[in-house]
Amino acid sequence: MQVKIYRYDPSADTAGHFDTFDVPAMPHWTVMDVLDYISENVDSTIAYFKHGACDHGICGRCALHVNGKVKLACSTEISEEQVLEIRPVNDNVLRDLVVIPKIQ
Ligand code: FES
Repeated sequence: MQVKIYRYDPSADTAGHFDTFDVPAMPHWTVMDVLDYISENVDSTIAYFKHGACDHGICGRCALHVNGKVKLACSTEISEEQVLEIRPVNDNVLRDLVVIPKIQ
């Protein structure tokens, strides 16, 4: 599957951009599994809330925009044929997919 991930490093970049990765996704993988695969096998510099606090869809720390909708990375299963576009959940980006949470 093809995965586009938003990248932004405020110490080096003037604007965000997307990097594209080919990932051999497996049945029942979650968005978090995809991010873990890329981090462990392709590009270890990707910043994301790796398993947040709970890894069970409770804490909300792993929330991301996945194909335009807010999803929890740890509990959102993907299909192997899908093209994923993964963006931060808000515009307070510290780096890549890591944000400062907005207080409602
Ligand atoms: S890690 Fe807690 S909701 Fe995903």
